[in-house]
Amino acid sequence: MGVPEFRIRDPGLAGKGRVSIEWAEMHMPVLLELRRIYSAAKPLKGLKISACLHVTKETAVLVETLKEWGAEVYLAPSNPLSTQDEVAAALVESGIHVYAWRGMTGDEYWWAIKTVASIEPDIIIDDGGDLHATMHKHYVEAAKKLKGGTEETTTGVIRLRALERQGKLLYPVFAVNNALTKFLFDNRYGTGQSTVDGVLRATNILLAGKTVVVAGYGWVGRGIAMRMRGMGARVIVTEVDPIRALEAVMDGFTVMKMDEAAKIGDIFITATGNINVITRKHFEVMKNGAILANAGHFNVEINVKELEEMAVRKRNVRPNVTEYTMPDGRKLYLLAEGRLVNLVAAEGHPSEVMDMSFSNQALAVLRLAKEGEKLPPKVYGVPREQDELVARLKLKSMGIEIDELTDEQREYLSRWE
Ligand code: NAD
Ligand code: ADE
Repeated sequence: MGVPEFRIRDPGLAGKGRVSIEWAEMHMPVLLELRRIYSAAKPLKGLKISACLHVTKETAVLVETLKEWGAEVYLAPSNPLSTQDEVAAALVESGIHVYAWRGMTGDEYWWAIKTVASIEPDIIIDDGGDLHATMHKHYVEAAKKLKGGTEETTTGVIRLRALERQGKLLYPVFAVNNALTKFLFDNRYGTGQSTVDGVLRATNILLAGKTVVVAGYGWVGRGIAMRMRGMGARVIVTEVDPIRALEAVMDGFTVMKMDEAAKIGDIFITATGNINVITRKHFEVMKNGAILANAGHFNVEINVKELEEMAVRKRNVRPNVTEYTMPDGRKLYLLAEGRLVNLVAAEGHPSEVMDMSFSNQALAVLRLAKEGEKLPPKVYGVPREQDELVARLKLKSMGIEIDELTDEQREYLSRWE
């Protein structure tokens, strides 16, 4: 059965979307350089690529690169609320098959993912693992024929490793998230800045002097903690991993259990990739006016169902801000429905970091096109040479030169005596 050419909010927004994509291109020099290098060879000619990514101006630069290299691209969203409708329109105008609009229902979201899964793709690109899971559950024969896939984020890599552990992974996958030039920059500086941006666009509150509780001190959590401190907030970190908790302490943050932090925080931001990090017992003790946001991939970190059950009143007070009145009159404010606050209330990571993340995606896709069929179904890291290439191109684009090892230094470092 054929699939529709596209389904988006409004094709008339294409002009606005194109200007936005051009703005992103201006700040994504590495990906544009790669696009130029491989453009003439058309290394993806004849290949169908299905992607499940946040439909943003930065994603546009990636998928238009893949198209320039010869691929036919099908794009579903990675979250029902993160699509930039004007970007979707511009992409459709340039010949990408897009199935996304901001504010999709759950059913519409899964319809879009199934649509891009159903076209018998050669390669898939995912952010969060929903497309990989769909291929493994509903399109098994097509999955077996895939050259391979890539995965953009920590949560998706965790799901793929679970498939691999059970011996059920059907194709090779490059864990793009695990490239150093991805997680050290995207997860940390990208989410750090764009989460502050999302909280501010939604609330316009003063951060200086506020107590911000960050749950999880992984790469995302430490970026948020660092940037919130930079805005003058007092930052409390909660963790379950003793080593990361210790790092947070020695980075100068206050560390305590969420049960204690819940009583004193003004703003709570989850970044764990885990479920039920903030629940009923925490809502019960929070201060009047407390603000709750999530930066982890799925909307499972703050238990929104329990918040809804407890509330005697619920209303939207500003775009992306829902007020819940508790039985004792306290008001709690949930941002972006508990979904990724940086992508729903702001525009996601700045283009400069997506430049590196998506250059890694593009290079991983090239590798799968070339040798995916020969790779056993496993979760692969990104080779060091790829990381170094992306870092070198990024430094070059910034006009920064670094030293090189002399022969003498190289020889010295290779000796044990
Ligand atoms: P990570 O594994 O580096 O860090 C997660 C941390 O959370 C770990 O240190 C872990 O010990 C801690 N943790 C787990 N359960 C916890 C709990 N109950 N309480 C407190 N801490 C707990 O992962 P990461 O790269 O930092 O990613 C975190 C999440 O953010 C993932 O879901 C990832 O996919 C997502 N992510 C979002 C964006 C974005 O744009 N918003 C960008 C990158 C990653
Ligand atoms: N994830 C986080 N920020 C993003 C962005 N700007 N575009 C696509 N995916 C993202």
